[in-house]
Amino acid sequence: MTAERARITIFDTTLRDGEQSPGCSMNRQEKLRLAHQLDRLGVDVIEAGFPIASDGDFESVKAIAAVVRRPIIAGLARACRPDIERAWEALRDAARPRIHVFLATSDIHLQYKLRITRDQCVEQAREAIRFAKSLCEDVEFSPEDATRTDPDFLCRVLQAVVEAGATTLNIPDTVGYTVPAEFGNLITTIRQRVKGIEKVTISAHCHNDLGMAVANALAAVSAGARQVECTINGIGERAGNASLEEIVMAMRVRPDRFAFETSVVGEQIFAASQMLSEITGVPVQPNKAITGRNAFAHEAGIHQDGVLKNPLTYEIMTPQSVGVPDSKLVLGKHSGRHALSIRCEQLGYQFDRRALDDIYRRFVRLADKIKHVEDHHLLELIRDTHKPSGSATPLIEPIVATQAAVVNAPAPEPTPEPSKPFPVGPQTNAFGVPLPLHGDSHHEQTQQEDYLWGV
Ligand code: KIV
Ligand code: ZN
Repeated sequence: MTAERARITIFDTTLRDGEQSPGCSMNRQEKLRLAHQLDRLGVDVIEAGFPIASDGDFESVKAIAAVVRRPIIAGLARACRPDIERAWEALRDAARPRIHVFLATSDIHLQYKLRITRDQCVEQAREAIRFAKSLCEDVEFSPEDATRTDPDFLCRVLQAVVEAGATTLNIPDTVGYTVPAEFGNLITTIRQRVKGIEKVTISAHCHNDLGMAVANALAAVSAGARQVECTINGIGERAGNASLEEIVMAMRVRPDRFAFETSVVGEQIFAASQMLSEITGVPVQPNKAITGRNAFAHEAGIHQDGVLKNPLTYEIMTPQSVGVPDSKLVLGKHSGRHALSIRCEQLGYQFDRRALDDIYRRFVRLADKIKHVEDHHLLELIRDTHKPSGSATPLIEPIVATQAAVVNAPAPEPTPEPSKPFPVGPQTNAFGVPLPLHGDSHHEQTQQEDYLWGV
């Protein structure tokens, strides 16, 4: 029997916090395009911008509110009348508008940035929420720098805004300072101390300054938060926000640890990531979890061999589940013969064992010089290896007629018994146990060699 899974609201702030990261600002058309993709992705809330920040952002939020009708559309406002009015002006035509009000609560922000007392902070927060609530039913409040705020004072502010009508309490780790256990405890404290908390949604908004944004967001959810704020590719202020794709896939891949569900359509993740990168011109870090170009690439021979036999050996989710067309076998100096022969087949060439040995030796030499052996290199190498004057016996047998023309392949010849360029004494497996030399020893030896060649 499977346990009931709690539903987590995915609040995407790529178009607001994400846009605040250097090089990521977007114009109205670009924001609209991405908002449609976020809609296809199935997020629950799109924070479309900060309407008071500029006329351009105001227009963007208004345009998104007018045409993207399924998700909630949120606009950010400081805890003051002009900001809230401007946000409402941009949002009022949305099918499901939300005003998101924030005010810093840590002493360091009160003292140096806002220059107000704690009492003034409570009053300002209360007034701002009352005013926002007079305009819009759905109001979110964020105590900025919550994780460096005295917890007693934080609960006092939260109590005031719940009484004033806030429907979501978002707890930001504004400077990426907290760690998972601490953040989970903070959520628990808030749930225990704020009266009426059961009527509002607790949310987590984590920055990645110590690389723990996703872990912190997941800890918050485990402690009772039911909304997470996140961005595509984890973009955002400084080191970024918690990455949407990592949070969603952690819940999908590890339901034993995170028994939650979201409405995100996994197959749309890669398209969203690519679109964002294309619009902003900011590339995705190659080893970025889920959306980086190496996330499903396997170069080491042992890994390639394993993945070709069964993807479960080295993949904890399928590339297709996040919309990546296919896992890529990157051919480099660590690659094994199994991967090389598959790629040759994909290019239209099937080799017998000896011919593959020839190609493989040259391939390893080439891969030592250049990092990645691309298809055109491989085609050249095949052509070279099998020149009539070359030492290798030409045994190329193109399996795709059109591609055969590219390589000018000679006619197949009878296959001599393959030579054995590898150790021919008793073979051992990866754990040093001798391999049996019975009828199918050729196949077993091939596997063992692939292991050796891959190392
Ligand atoms: O990081 C932060 O504190 C914010 C708030 C405006 C929610 O982005
Ligand atoms: Zn933020």
